[in-house]
Amino acid sequence: MNHEELFLKILSSNQVSSNSDDLENYGKDWTKHFKANASLVVFPKSTEEVKKIVDLCKEHSIEIIPSGGRTGLSAGATATNKEVIVSLEKMNKIKTLNPVDQTVRCEAGAILEDIQKHVEEKGYYYPVDFAARGSCQIGGTVATNAGGIKVIRYGLTRNWIAGLTVVTGNGEVLKINNGLVKNATGYDLRHLFIGSEGTLGIVTEVELKLTNLPSDLQVLTLATDQLDNIMKVYTAFRDKVTLTAFESYTDVCLKYVEAAGRVQSPISEKAPYYVLIEFESTHGQLDLAMSVFETCLENEWVIDGVISQSDQQFKDLWALREDITEATSVKQPYKNDISVNISKVPEFLNNLDEIVKKKYDFEVAWFGHIGDGNLHVNILKPDELSSDDFMKKCKQVDQEMFQMIKDLGGSVSAEHGVGLVKKDFLSYTRSPDEIAYMKQVKSIFDPKGILNPGKLL
Ligand code: MLT
Ligand code: ZN
Repeated sequence: MNHEELFLKILSSNQVSSNSDDLENYGKDWTKHFKANASLVVFPKSTEEVKKIVDLCKEHSIEIIPSGGRTGLSAGATATNKEVIVSLEKMNKIKTLNPVDQTVRCEAGAILEDIQKHVEEKGYYYPVDFAARGSCQIGGTVATNAGGIKVIRYGLTRNWIAGLTVVTGNGEVLKINNGLVKNATGYDLRHLFIGSEGTLGIVTEVELKLTNLPSDLQVLTLATDQLDNIMKVYTAFRDKVTLTAFESYTDVCLKYVEAAGRVQSPISEKAPYYVLIEFESTHGQLDLAMSVFETCLENEWVIDGVISQSDQQFKDLWALREDITEATSVKQPYKNDISVNISKVPEFLNNLDEIVKKKYDFEVAWFGHIGDGNLHVNILKPDELSSDDFMKKCKQVDQEMFQMIKDLGGSVSAEHGVGLVKKDFLSYTRSPDEIAYMKQVKSIFDPKGILNPGKLL
């Protein structure tokens, strides 16, 4: 019996697809360098159906790729070896919002932006946010412990998970933590599944914590001519103002965003670096921010700046940062997502410059969540270089860059995850003992190794 016939025994025909477009589409995520090679896509509609799927796969040793919105950038959700893709997209209900507990329960396939809008209509806020909000699914954000643009104020996805329902690789359904704020009863299994990249279990439901809506957010975009000034500006603002975001990008990023034509920078003074600062302007914060801005100008840490004067300008200033991924995609970027302690960011960037620009002569578009030490280093492909030659050279850059990150005590993946892309470099960030424990944990929850094989470990 082939895979399709097997799955048609437990699912209806509209929940099973071997259509070549589906195999291609669901077999890949936003990481472009891997060829999709899936055998089937299945679309469960409930936790019980996910359990049936895992039981069947366990019995027949069929490998599974858990699949969300496929917006990942580390090939964590790619099917390259005839696996069966389990798409959670039909499990997209936003269920109960509990105003007293300040939680909302959702199925794993619910889209992040739909959840954000749903809770905002009721006066609440889910603060984990990033540019892929309109496509990514909440289960995927749990599996990758998604970060994004508000981490300096609100933390990572991990901080916002009150409860989880998970089907393990053993086929057990675990309902973990039940939304409790306090629960001192031993190991907190939530945190094993958060960030496990679908290698331990398939998240089917999530209970999210909510908070109050921020009020009167303002964006300030500043231009600076020296790298070291970025951290001076950061500490000056952070010490006086409660920041909700502190992002940075370079003139190279701006060049591609402006060329894409959707938005232009209102800053007339050209500079090599820009920072975007977001804060709530109530309770005297606006005056404080303006006085820090003055200090930055007086000290020549910034050479120009603009504060959002309207909702549209607020959106445009954010678009100058959030459109970078799409705008640079024309240059087939080789993407890296690294972190170091924020005090080490200037040292990292100076070293990176040495490695990438001087040795390889590549254009680099770096940007990111500099307020939490996370940088997206995008090496852009020169038009004359073939993709294969470019990839080969980028792999050499990786070796040097990751050694440098290791020496600085940083991480080879800050928020995009390990997937297939960073797997060979895990040991630059995690010790042999840690990796050995991770493998043992995997073997407990997925003894047959059927869940997202070949990813992460
Ligand atoms: C971002 O911060 O915009 C995302 O992580 C996407 C990217 O790195 O391209
Ligand atoms: Zn990011």
